[in-house]
Amino acid sequence: MADLSEVLMGEHSAIRVIRHFDALSRGDFLFDFCDYLDNCHVQVEEKAYFPVIIDYDWEDRASFESTVNRIKADHRLIRTLGDNLKKWKSNGDQLFSVRLPLYYKTVTEHNLSEEISVFPRWSRLSEDVRLQAIKDAREIITSFGFDRYQEQTGISAEFFKYILGSH
Ligand SMILES: [Fe+2]
Ligand SMILES: [Fe+2]
Repeated sequence: MADLSEVLMGEHSAIRVIRHFDALSRGDFLFDFCDYLDNCHVQVEEKAYFPVIIDYDWEDRASFESTVNRIKADHRLIRTLGDNLKKWKSNGDQLFSVRLPLYYKTVTEHNLSEEISVFPRWSRLSEDVRLQAIKDAREIITSFGFDRYQEQTGISAEFFKYILGSH
């Protein structure tokens, strides 16, 4: 069932992050952003979400599994790109500003492919499986640090509580 409150709070999160736009386009928060992406978002996907979404009796299981594996390979590529950017930024190498737009483009295209190929399948999972994955995700986010999570995503404690019960 669609939830308009969720859509609006999702928009609020984006609006909160927009205030960083200038700094993000200069790469000022890149270290924090890469840290969040690699050690929180990707961990939730790979440790809490992908294992349960693959472990289902899909009629196209073999091809879906290779889609998920391609997405995991993207994660490794994104981490490598981020590591290079951090190195170039630290060294004052001008490759940093040349490659930064490519990094954001790669991440946003990757996210869209997850939204097209993986996320719509969530509602097919049983409630028990979904609850366990949410619990695992919450643990990963909590151990990463909710304040840092909130800073990078714009997701407020209220929004988190609304969609997942608590944080
Ligand atoms: Fe991802
Ligand atoms: Fe993602």
